[in-house]
Order: sequence, then C-alpha cells, then structure tokens
Amino acid sequence: MDKLKMAIVGAGLWGGTHAEIYNQHPNAEAVAICDMDKAKAEKYAAEHGIKEVYSDYNDMLKHCDCDAVAIVTPDFAHADIAVAAANAGKHMLIEKPLATTRDDAMRMYEAITKNNVRAMVDFHNRWNPVYNTMQQLIASGNYGAPRSGHFRMTDNLWVATDMLKWCAKSSILWFLGSHSLDTLNFLFDDYPTEVFAYKTEGVLKKLGIDTTDSYMSMFKYSKGGMAQMENSWVTPNGNPNVNDFKCYILCENGKFDANCSSFDMLQVTDQTRMISQDISVKNNVFGEWKGFAFESIRSFVDCIVNDKEFHVTLEESANITLALLAVMQSADTGKIVQIERI
Ligand SMILES: NC(=O)c1ccc[n+]([C@@H]2O[C@H](COP(=O)([O-])OP(=O)(O)OC[C@H]3O[C@@H](n4cnc5c(N)ncnc54)[C@H](O)[C@@H]3O)[C@@H](O)[C@H]2O)c1
Repeated sequence: MDKLKMAIVGAGLWGGTHAEIYNQHPNAEAVAICDMDKAKAEKYAAEHGIKEVYSDYNDMLKHCDCDAVAIVTPDFAHADIAVAAANAGKHMLIEKPLATTRDDAMRMYEAITKNNVRAMVDFHNRWNPVYNTMQQLIASGNYGAPRSGHFRMTDNLWVATDMLKWCAKSSILWFLGSHSLDTLNFLFDDYPTEVFAYKTEGVLKKLGIDTTDSYMSMFKYSKGGMAQMENSWVTPNGNPNVNDFKCYILCENGKFDANCSSFDMLQVTDQTRMISQDISVKNNVFGEWKGFAFESIRSFVDCIVNDKEFHVTLEESANITLALLAVMQSADTGKIVQIERI
C-alpha cells in the first residue's frame, strides 16, 4: 500500500489536526470527512481539499473507498462508529479514551479482533519527547525498577466551560486521566491491579456543568510499584499553560522529575497575562506541522503502511478504560477496587 486512504469521523477541534497530518504525510491522504453537523465537515473538506463529505458514518462506510477510519468524536461517542468500521473491514485510529463504559470497550474489542482489522488509540504522550526518553532510561535498567510515582495532569477551567461542549457527558478522568494512566503504565512497564481514589465536586456543578472537578487516585502495580495520579478540570484560568502537567518517578537507584506543563520554551505576555505556549505538542514550521501530537498520528500511518506493530496495543487501551472505571467506583464507594483486565 503506497497511500493510506483515511476517512475522518468528527470535524471538531481535533478532527482538524487529523486532516492536517494525513494530507502532509507522504503515505496518506484524507479522502472523506463525516460530521453529524454537515456544515462542519464541509468547512474542513474545503480547507483541506477532502473530496467526500458525509453526515452519517454508516453512509460513509458504505460508499467511501477508504482503508482506515479516524474516530475523532467526543469521548463517549467512539464505540458505535468503531464497531461499524470494524464490521466494514476498516482499520482505525481511535482518539483517547477507547471508550467510557465497560460494555463499549468490550464490544469494540470483540468487533475489532473478530474482523481482524487493526486499531490504535491515540495515546500520544508515548511520543512526548520527555516521556519517551524517561521510558528508555527506566527500561535501560541503570536506575533500578520504578517504585513510586506522582503524575499530575490538569486542565484550566476554560477547557470544561468553553472548549468542550460535551464535558458533562465525559469526565476529567476520560479526557486527561486516560493519557495520565497510559503514560504511567508505559513508564512502569506494568499495569495496576488495584486502586483507591477520592474525588471533589462543586466548582463545575455550580457553573451548571454536571461533572466531577478532580480525582486523586492511588494505584498499586503488579510488580510492586505504586503511583498517585491527580486529574482536575478546575485549575484556574490564570495558569499560564492550559495544562498543569508534571511527573515524578522514584526508582530503586535514581529518580526522574518532569515538568511538561509547557517546557517553558516560550512565554508570551500581553497587557493582561502571560501565556506559556506548548509548542512541543503542535507547532508549524514553514507550513509543516511538527510536534508529538502529530508523531502519534504519523506513526499510525507508518505502522499500517509498513505492516509494523503499533506502539500502543488495543489490549492496553481497553485496560485503561477498565482501570478508570475502577477509579470511579473507588471514589464513589470509598473502597479499594480490584482492577479488571481484558
Ligand atoms: N490526542 C489528544 O491529545 C486529543 C486532544 C483533543 C481531543 N482529543 C479527543 O478527540 C475527540 C474529539 O475531541 P474534540 O475536542 O475534537 O471534540 P469536538 O466536540 O470539537 O468535535 C467532535 C465532533 O464530532 C461530531 N460528532 C459527534 N458524534 C458524531 C457522530 N456519531 N457522527 C459524526 N460526527 C459526530 C460533533 O458534531 C463534533 O463536530 C475526543 O475523544 C477527545 O478526547 C484528543
């Protein structure tokens, strides 16, 4: 296969990122775009030269001669599209998280494996230069096994109040907790077996957004390590970067401290505030998109075209969903919860 023909479902904020990268990749092209709000799909089609436009993904799967589908719909709206794409024999890149219910994760897993198609979830922090380097250093064995960790990944309030229209139907655990736990598992080269979690509520509910403000989770890993994970949607908007994003890992013979909030590479100040731009995620150099958000999407294309293993497996991604459901159960019941695995 020379060029992977990609069809994108979801012409929102992140769907545009997908369109840009496929059209820039020498071995891919965006051939179709679908959004239930057809005007949004038409807008991206015009901007990115995408020939086919749909408002119904079943219609798209019936008529479009694509090789793979990018599922870039809200967190809770991945499963039906993935099952339909698998039944149509299409490979797929699914935005994180894989799913937000056990039933959705299971039926996606079943449809993808039964139809023998390939699927990757876009956990792009594995391509983040900081975490990828940390993972390589830990895997070298020079620092001993990871024993404890702290991972903080939060969003400024603005993401919940203004950026996402659907956050009451998701949660900070799905939106950023999924990235956080995937990165922890990647660094620990392990999976958590049990969790104890707390949550706080009130700030978003007072603003009319019915979702949890923050979760604090403590995971016990199968090889004996432990990690604390903090995720919140109520970091004050004055925070210079949209994320507060920090990680600490203590190994038997060494430690790692990462501040990925912005890497403090570029501070931009106007009359009201200083903004620290995260140009490592996404930046444009002489018209070409760079950054680790693009590397993961590019990697999906490369792995399909060259028939290589993905750097994130479907099982790992399904297990993230199951672990986050255990976090919610623990926060709701005040009990330690054993984590189910696929
Ligand atoms: N990899 C990353 O770091 C990253 C960054 C941002 C968002 N995301 C993920 O990408 C996904 C989309 O996020 P977003 O910010 O682009 O959301 P968005 O709300 O901006 O866009 C989603 C689009 O999907 C469309 N849609 C919903 N259901 C549909 C359906 N059944 N058929 C066709 N279209 C449908 C909506 O009309 C909307 O235009 C989410 O899962 C989110 O977590 C990932």
